[in-house]
Amino acid sequence: MIYSRIAGTGSYLPPRVMTNAEFAARLDTSDAWIRERTGIERRHIAESSQASSDLALEASKRALEAAGMNANEIDLIIVATSTPDYVFPSTACLLQAKLGVHGSAAFDVQAVCSGFVYGLATADSFIKNKMAKSALVVGAEVFSRILDWNDRGTCVLFGDGAGAVVLGSSEKPGIHASVLRADGSQAGMLSVPGNVCGGAIVGSPFLQMDGRAVFKLAVKVLEESARETVAAAGMQLSDVDWLIPHQANVRILDATARKLGLPREKLVVTVDHHGNTSAASVPLALDELVRAGKIRPGHRVLLQGVGGGFTWGSTLVTL
Ligand code: ACO
Repeated sequence: MIYSRIAGTGSYLPPRVMTNAEFAARLDTSDAWIRERTGIERRHIAESSQASSDLALEASKRALEAAGMNANEIDLIIVATSTPDYVFPSTACLLQAKLGVHGSAAFDVQAVCSGFVYGLATADSFIKNKMAKSALVVGAEVFSRILDWNDRGTCVLFGDGAGAVVLGSSEKPGIHASVLRADGSQAGMLSVPGNVCGGAIVGSPFLQMDGRAVFKLAVKVLEESARETVAAAGMQLSDVDWLIPHQANVRILDATARKLGLPREKLVVTVDHHGNTSAASVPLALDELVRAGKIRPGHRVLLQGVGGGFTWGSTLVTL
């Protein structure tokens, strides 16, 4: 049996840091409200010259370096993004070109904040089915481009960034199990309901969200998904060393860990300094803890996505 295994992680945050005080200076909000209701203190915002593929490139270079591999050794590139550079070609193809290689399969996955977990599960299937020996899976977002900066209910929540992992083949897992789910009937709960048509934007180019409904559903499905994935791997929740849920709101994270009976020390929280970076949030958090020497080889990590679609999913992996 062939399994996929994480060979290296990397991430990139654009240098510009935006604090809550900057919102409070021009909107009816405050640092205290944002911290209390979301746990967010600051986020990174991309320069106008930086697209998702640029952020993805930096994260990918770091992941390849950590894996000790060159881009030409990768035979599958998946980019999870809801803020692609273009309608087409895919950001994955643009990333491949920026990495200076060609020939590997390359495509985007669109599952909003669950995108990285969807991408990881897809790459895992390719490797298990011997359609690829190695894969680069990236979550990259410039959510700052799809925010209404006058809507205090949404613009304070998000940030830009990218995270990446290199997967290799191994006789030992690696990825133990993934469970992906969606409920399209809830599409309206969180969306950017616009498109480009005849040279104009039709609908809205801005993120819209029913925050309370998202909150409730996120806590419910994160718990269910964690239990389902751990069971699919033939393990117990007590076998999990680290829980990395999508970094949406610290209250969602705390509630999930509490419902699962996992101690706070096992819960990874980066939303305070990254904000919600959608598909980038899970690989960004993973890389931060790997580089800090906290997540180490042999640790079992439960990665969880949840977001627009509505989509959700989890992957249990041994580093
Ligand atoms: N500053 C000050 N007041 C605000 C702000 C703000 N930035 N935003 C909203 N408010 C106000 C509202 O207008 C409302 O005022 P009102 O009572 O006069 O009408 C009041 O605060 C309470 O609003 P609620 O929406 O009930 O506040 P809540 O405690 O639910 O917090 C929040 C809102 C933070 C959006 C929360 O619902 C949440 O985090 N939901 C999850 C959404 C999320 O994480 N989305 C990310 C994308 S989805 C994903 O990644 C899974």
